[in-house]
Amino acid sequence: MKKELIKQAMGVLDANFQKEGFTIPSQGLYPFQWKWDSGFIAIGLCYYNIEKAKLEVKTLLDAQWENGFIPHIVFHNENDSYFPGADFHKSELHPLSSKEYKSTGMTQPPVMGFVLQEMHRIATDKEDMVEFIKKHIDKVYQNHAYFYSNRDPHDEGLVYIYHNWESGTDNSPVWDDIWKTMNPPEYIFERKDTTHVDASQRPSKREYDHYLHIIEIAKEHQYDDEKIAALSPFLVQDPLFNAMLIKSNESLLELYDLIGGNEEKKIQLRQWQQKSIKGVNTKLFDEELGAFVHYDLRNDRPIRFVSSSSFSPLFAGIPDVKRAETLVQTMVDKFGGKDKYLCASFDPTSDRFNPKKYWRGPVWINMNWMLYYGLKKYRFLELANRIKKDSVELIKRDGFYEYFDCRKNNGEANRIGYGGSNFSWSAALLIDLLND
Ligand code: SER
Repeated sequence: MKKELIKQAMGVLDANFQKEGFTIPSQGLYPFQWKWDSGFIAIGLCYYNIEKAKLEVKTLLDAQWENGFIPHIVFHNENDSYFPGADFHKSELHPLSSKEYKSTGMTQPPVMGFVLQEMHRIATDKEDMVEFIKKHIDKVYQNHAYFYSNRDPHDEGLVYIYHNWESGTDNSPVWDDIWKTMNPPEYIFERKDTTHVDASQRPSKREYDHYLHIIEIAKEHQYDDEKIAALSPFLVQDPLFNAMLIKSNESLLELYDLIGGNEEKKIQLRQWQQKSIKGVNTKLFDEELGAFVHYDLRNDRPIRFVSSSSFSPLFAGIPDVKRAETLVQTMVDKFGGKDKYLCASFDPTSDRFNPKKYWRGPVWINMNWMLYYGLKKYRFLELANRIKKDSVELIKRDGFYEYFDCRKNNGEANRIGYGGSNFSWSAALLIDLLND
């Protein structure tokens, strides 16, 4: 069974591979290269095609801007089945954007540091992988330098995101109160996502108005970071985004140790690391909720909701043991009922929870993958194994979908996953989980 599942997963990844040297997340719905998808995909590819894994990472890093920024989507071709595409985003407005690749002017969680380290862990030819890392690691370092120089205006060690699409958790209920502070125009545009996926599983038209409006403001200012920090109606310190950055800092430090030299970069990484860990622990932890929460930097207030992002600092070793125990208790109490698979993307006890709609409740395999390794790090082995088992069972139940209903019985006869089918990171990370 395990072998068969891995074979199917490899089939999904191979079918989604493109001649330009990257893997689409899912046919139809997502026809380009996405930043954090590529990172997770490379991890799965390492188990059976190391050259493809290296190419995946190289292709993404080739699209890096001159200021170190790595965009969230790289538009490698003219596919018009996605909205908003290259013509809407207009990355060329930024003077330092890539001259070779069209992209968005926003980013996604900084996964590449820990992805390089995972690639080294999995590779059998370590020497060859070290050579690859030597060639590419500075680009990842420059990406972190971009974040710390441009996205931390109060020098707190906490970088902000200026768009919900930068979080990766696109339409989480966490953003609902920010939408209430905005009143964007009713844009006229043609949605493409809802031609691929049932609209009940995707964000609403009004939500898209907000998403587009933030981009319009950034475009008016040529994607200038200072202007965005001053003017964007969405400016958030996200525990997931910052946990990924911290995890990747740690990986870069360990990889620089491995390849030798680079003393100044290591000193800088340690300084960033210290400040960021402190920042997440002091500013983003909510004692009453027993969880990490987002902070709305624009409106200067914490966003007090528990989501799967609330537990992601475990992956980066951010909380101390006592706080990790608190997090686990919160996860078990709110998300861990026997009638549910772990881990819903949003608090199932909240009235904002929706088990079918994108990031408003369903289970995501990339979050489960991070939580699995995070819980293992702190030796919560039983819960870690439950998350792994649940991930495998959901894929067995529904297939390699993008997201899954956490309810073991939702009253429907035919169970089927949600969002895109044959979804690349669900396949890639299953390969890793089954090999661990
Ligand atoms: N995931 C977003 C979308 O749904 C963009 O990153 O289009």
